[in-house]
Amino acid sequence: MKSISLVTLFLTITAFTATSFSQTRQTIDFKSDWKFHKGDVENANETNFDDAQWQSVSVPHDWAIYGPFDKEVDKQTVKIVQNNEKVATEKTGRTGALPFIGVGWYRKTFTLDVLTSNKKVLLAFDGAMSNSKVYVNGELVGGWPFGYNYFYFDITDYIKKDEQNTLAVRLENYPFSSRWYPGAGLYRKVQLIVKDATSFQHWGHFITTPYISDDLAKVTIQSKVNGENVRIETIIKDAKGNQVATSKTDARFGDELEQNIPVKKPNLWSPENPYLYTAELNLFEGDELKDSETIRFGIRKIEYSREKGFLLNDVPTKFKGVCLHHDLGPIGTAINKSALRRQLTILKDLGCNAIRSSHNMPSIEQLELCDEMGFLFLAESFDEWKKPKIKNGYNLYFDEWAEKDVVNLVHATRNHPCIVMWSSGNEVPDQWGSDGVKRAKWLQDIFHREDPTRPVTVGMDQVKAVMESGFGAIMDIPGLNYRVHLYDEAYKRFPQGFILGSETASTVSSRGVYKFPVVKGPDKKYDDYQSSSYDLEYCNWSNIPEDDFVLQDDKDWVLGEFVWTGFDYLGEPTPYDNYWPSRSSYFGICDLAGLPKDRYYLYRSRWNTNETTLHILPHWNWEGREGEITPVFVYTSYKSAELFVNGKSQGVRTKNDSTKLDRYRLMWMDVKYEPGTLKVVAFDDNGKIAEEKEIKTAGKPYQLVLDADKKVLAANGEDLSYVTVSVVDKDGIPCPLAQNQLKFKVSGDASYRAACNGDATSLEMFHQPTMKLFNGKLVVLVQSGGNKAGSAKLTVSGKGLKSASTQIEIK
Ligand code: GAL
Repeated sequence: MKSISLVTLFLTITAFTATSFSQTRQTIDFKSDWKFHKGDVENANETNFDDAQWQSVSVPHDWAIYGPFDKEVDKQTVKIVQNNEKVATEKTGRTGALPFIGVGWYRKTFTLDVLTSNKKVLLAFDGAMSNSKVYVNGELVGGWPFGYNYFYFDITDYIKKDEQNTLAVRLENYPFSSRWYPGAGLYRKVQLIVKDATSFQHWGHFITTPYISDDLAKVTIQSKVNGENVRIETIIKDAKGNQVATSKTDARFGDELEQNIPVKKPNLWSPENPYLYTAELNLFEGDELKDSETIRFGIRKIEYSREKGFLLNDVPTKFKGVCLHHDLGPIGTAINKSALRRQLTILKDLGCNAIRSSHNMPSIEQLELCDEMGFLFLAESFDEWKKPKIKNGYNLYFDEWAEKDVVNLVHATRNHPCIVMWSSGNEVPDQWGSDGVKRAKWLQDIFHREDPTRPVTVGMDQVKAVMESGFGAIMDIPGLNYRVHLYDEAYKRFPQGFILGSETASTVSSRGVYKFPVVKGPDKKYDDYQSSSYDLEYCNWSNIPEDDFVLQDDKDWVLGEFVWTGFDYLGEPTPYDNYWPSRSSYFGICDLAGLPKDRYYLYRSRWNTNETTLHILPHWNWEGREGEITPVFVYTSYKSAELFVNGKSQGVRTKNDSTKLDRYRLMWMDVKYEPGTLKVVAFDDNGKIAEEKEIKTAGKPYQLVLDADKKVLAANGEDLSYVTVSVVDKDGIPCPLAQNQLKFKVSGDASYRAACNGDATSLEMFHQPTMKLFNGKLVVLVQSGGNKAGSAKLTVSGKGLKSASTQIEIK
């Protein structure tokens, strides 16, 4: 330990909740003690402004998720060109019908007790929605228009030593600025970083692994520094914390020092083996330790090969991916690691191996989890370039900000091994015309300049146009959104030798809803504003899952797919864009509450190769349909199965190539409904019975049943348990039609956070402790309290139902 005492604890900091100490720098999470006000206020930036009456909040915070839902919010009378609309119509729930428009102010005070003259103070935001203006002690420090990006300011010169400092942030969301619910406020982390003036630059390290063999990996670390005559000493540790390599350098090129460190017998990162190393980087000036940072990284090799497609560590790997919007359903956009972890846990079970952050920069927390849990990541930047999709979209900023936004995206996230591809845009209208080709090249060159190790794609929907213009030919990876009928032609005409399904399917369905007759078709609408879970409904530009499956399976040159979407999200209620009260999407493989729809099992049957899948649909409660044709589908990893209605065989079905549907689904189209038991018996490849499943007609709703995904929560005020609530009859059979109004009560050392039933037309607010079941189910979120260990109890009740409770431990 060299001279650490010289630099240790030069300062103490008050008015914050979490501090992480290295000996030389402090990173302070600005979580608690914020004051918030919705609406613009004069002089709210000033130190002596009285914010006592403002609301006390903690950050991350989404000011709009508390509603109420209102049809008038951001009502857009538009023609959505991407959706092939010919006339403008009134779109009510397009951005979620939640009050995110307008100005919001946040204020917070903090004190740096002892601040020596040679310190640097940075203020870093992982994202602020949007058009931020940041003030310290009344003075404007800077701002960042794009709400999804990471940015920071050096606020050293604005800080007052030994006195209270005031931070004020003004945010403003414009109407007609989004195609989905963007959220509002300081919805991601805000941090204060205090370090020596001689230190590593912010986001200053770039760790790559340019050479990998079984015996050896070369780990290259480029580090940018502030200060002269410095030296870096590095320790690389394996996942258990054992030192596996060290290095030292003072060779300097401009403001950068580079180390090439051999790591023997590297343990390679992959979705199946998400193995992470850490690099502890220490910056010395003479004998004095000036700064240290620990960066987590993976050793892995990516290659996109004309012959073999995408290779991860030399293994051909197809993307079994989903697109995700950034909102977390009932808790809105306020980032919560526990909510993100739950999403990824569900996706792991699905067999999904990749995420696309559509259509913007992912949260750092999501990337950390994808590194740890093993997901490949396609990190996207923009939904719009210079040509507008919507009036106040990114087109307002493109010229001035696009390069800065790409640079920050790359610098803030490039050490995450999960990221294997960048995307510079999604369905940008600039696909038309030669200026767009130049913009595509310009953006791709910026990505290459900042990160020569990863390729760049654009999700393209104007496939004919980009074949003509050369737009598609210049991309590292040509990504097609839908347009399954153009894959062959695009493959022939593009020079790259492969095609990525950057966005696929956009099949629509509502959990637990089935419509008759069962017929495939686009843009179907019903009086209840729901879509059928027979998974045969889609949009006029999109398709059913099987249209992609055949391309994925039959064409070696297809790199994989990113399904639109893994989870339902707030806003974009297609096909009910102009039908109030629809206010959230129908596209998800899971609903807004994270509950799997039937489609989950269709994808699982091919993606999850470790476990079997056997799933029957629809439910079997069809009072009034007795004797009527009620088709039964089975989504299964088995090739063949026999169906029984009350013991009577409906025949054996075997997957076959006669139609795309027959290849992937087992279907009994002529089943006549009679109440009782529907049973499926699946056969293995030798024709032997391998697995059985049955569902039964339920009687009257009798009793509530709770199933918590976590029975133990961390006492950190953030951890969440997702408790699935369902209703069963007196024999314990799930009631698939129940719509009872329920009430929730949490007592003890946790609190009620939100509920969600996955109904895209529900106007009940998530944070109110009451909600209707949607088709027999909903999910309640219980959140651990402060730092207090103990226990909590959730009780759920409903009129005429036997109530239920579950105990949760807080540790
Ligand atoms: C795509 C678009 C997505 C979403 C989707 C719905 O064209 O990229 O953002 O709008 O359509 O099908």
